[in-house]
Amino acid sequence: MIDTPLEQQKERQLGHRYDAFAKVTGRAKYAAEFPVKNVAYGHIVQADIPAGTVVSIDDAAASRASGVHSIVTPFNAPKLAELGNVNVLQNATVLYSGQPIAVVVARSLPEAQAAAALLRITYKEEAAKLDFKGLLNDARPPKRGGASRRGDPEASAAKAAVTIDETYTTPIQNHNPMEPHATIAWWEGDRLSVYDSTQGISGVQQALARAFSIPQASVHVECPYTGGGFGCKGYVWSHTILAAMAAKAAERPVKLVLERPQMFGPVGSRPNTRQHIKLAAAADGKLLLQQHDSVCYTSMISDWVESAANQTTLLYDSESLSTSHLVVPLNLGMGTWMRAPGEATGSVGLEIALDELAEKLNMDPVELRLVNYAEKDPRQGKPWSSKHLRECYAQAGERFGWSKRVARTGQHREGNSLIGHGMATANYGAGRSPSSAVVRILPNGRVFVGIGTQDLGTGTYTILAQAAALAFSIDPAMVDVKLGDTSLPHSGGSGGSTTAASVGPAVYDAAAQARLKLAQLAAGDAQSPLHGVAAEEIETKDGRIFLKTASGTGPDKSEAITALLARNGGTPVEATATSELVKDRDSFTSHSWGAVFAEVAVDADTHMVRVRRLVATYDIGTLLNDKTGTNQLVGGLVWGIGMALHEESVIDTKYGRTVNENFAEYHVPVNADVGEIDVTCLNIPDFRFNPLGARGIGEIGITGAAAAIANAIYNATGKRVRDFPITPDKLMA
Ligand code: MOS
Repeated sequence: MIDTPLEQQKERQLGHRYDAFAKVTGRAKYAAEFPVKNVAYGHIVQADIPAGTVVSIDDAAASRASGVHSIVTPFNAPKLAELGNVNVLQNATVLYSGQPIAVVVARSLPEAQAAAALLRITYKEEAAKLDFKGLLNDARPPKRGGASRRGDPEASAAKAAVTIDETYTTPIQNHNPMEPHATIAWWEGDRLSVYDSTQGISGVQQALARAFSIPQASVHVECPYTGGGFGCKGYVWSHTILAAMAAKAAERPVKLVLERPQMFGPVGSRPNTRQHIKLAAAADGKLLLQQHDSVCYTSMISDWVESAANQTTLLYDSESLSTSHLVVPLNLGMGTWMRAPGEATGSVGLEIALDELAEKLNMDPVELRLVNYAEKDPRQGKPWSSKHLRECYAQAGERFGWSKRVARTGQHREGNSLIGHGMATANYGAGRSPSSAVVRILPNGRVFVGIGTQDLGTGTYTILAQAAALAFSIDPAMVDVKLGDTSLPHSGGSGGSTTAASVGPAVYDAAAQARLKLAQLAAGDAQSPLHGVAAEEIETKDGRIFLKTASGTGPDKSEAITALLARNGGTPVEATATSELVKDRDSFTSHSWGAVFAEVAVDADTHMVRVRRLVATYDIGTLLNDKTGTNQLVGGLVWGIGMALHEESVIDTKYGRTVNENFAEYHVPVNADVGEIDVTCLNIPDFRFNPLGARGIGEIGITGAAAAIANAIYNATGKRVRDFPITPDKLMA
């Protein structure tokens, strides 16, 4: 357990972002920005039809075009050994419009694009499945995952005083990190090197090694910075493998950067959901039944389920429960993880249904949630490692001024604006994976931390510098962190809000071991003032090593670490450690919690919604860094605004393409869309979960946010919109 004095905690929470200077000065290099000699440019050619076969690709004219090095198609692509669920030209089948069907490599990007336009492609088209609503009869259970049941749902429902039975729908969304996916790949004999924008360098290394049948050690992946991921960069998509394939064909390094429209289809989406929710309650608000049945689209490539109903199994207590997931196969690109996959969409349905139930019960929405508070994990009755959701409702409610809310709809008017207040619960699981790290104390007194994880902009560099600084009691400015390189000790992917909770303890353990080695060096050094002292009695602080029990750190009891290392060969002291998962981890459930309150103003004439305030309090264990941590939560809440009001990938049900595959028409919130945001964290450590007491923080911010806004819109207008996003046209009816 790390027992940090409050003063020291405050100090490091004020710490700056480790990578801020590199980023604002442009020194931070992203995958596509690395200078690689003789690099050629790849352009992916995408299928124009949603279903069928590529019959032929006539590349005669394209091959003769200016600057063209090579053209890889399904008809000349090398056979790869083992594939994930990606389309890498191994056959001519087309499963969605936008699927990669060729790669053109040329001296420059414009030349590659111009040559691509000269390809003469013929297809044999087949009937495509594109209309989700019209194909609901095709819904089937997914190949994995799905349903759960507790108690006797029918009997519980029969006892109900009040019932809600409604359907909620959320649209397809696409990830739009600032930095699109990008890969530079080159071969030296059978060794493959790539710069790749990813949330998991190890995953990229594994996938490439498998695809090209080479040892993992022959693949080197680097990704020092990722310009946002949100889940889409947690999977190895076709372009990464195609870049390596094209580099082989062109016999030179190939750079492949996805163009913005290519972000809509080939690199995953958040599937739509159609959530049927039935809540049955007794007159006192106690839930008798929670039934949550969700249907989403899946691709023809592979099943991917937006598991919207999963959180319903653990969020509230109820006598009975029934959840299920079904999928409707469509000719669209694959679904994948998108920030809080499952919880983001599922909390939209469940948290609005609870608002509807509260109204029918004539109960305060917060009170309804407290009545059904899950003291234990309802699934197997395990205790929570730490849960302080009650305090979240209380703190956020107080900061928001919830007690002044008028329950009746349409009562609060300011000028031409209808004002409304709503709330919802936020929740997300807490996981961690084993992770290794190396820590080196250098002869110049600086500390080096190396770990094979990556920072997608969340603050991983910053918190790891902090962890090492804390372990040695030195200024974080004395720590150098290297990430994003597969030659560093292995770590898991940056996803599922697991990174900080996984890599933080690894660095802390490695630092502790390095410090012990340093102490042993001092104890065994006849010239050291600490000679003969037990290593456990030795401490480090501000670049000096000293006797822990000594009151002072005078020359007789301490010395500079640089002096100790200089006398002992001038070489670094180094330790590698792998963080252990806690032994009793199966005896409890770790989960993060929060409460979100929203205030909206709806224009009575235009029905435009403005989110004036979001106030949220989270129980995420220890807040490792105020700046980067709070930023994650604010970012999630902002995305909640987008989810509530703006975001939707519109599918053309004839041609199967996303109609609005650009930033002008796929609306994400901009600063002008965002009102006041007030985020606080309880900062209560969860030491049963890990030695830092910190659970994940990257995803919980989006959960509940869209529902809180929807509930506020209802409170303002009396119009219950169950179909997202809530655009003005839906409020006019
Ligand atoms: Mo996240 S959706 O696990 O990157």
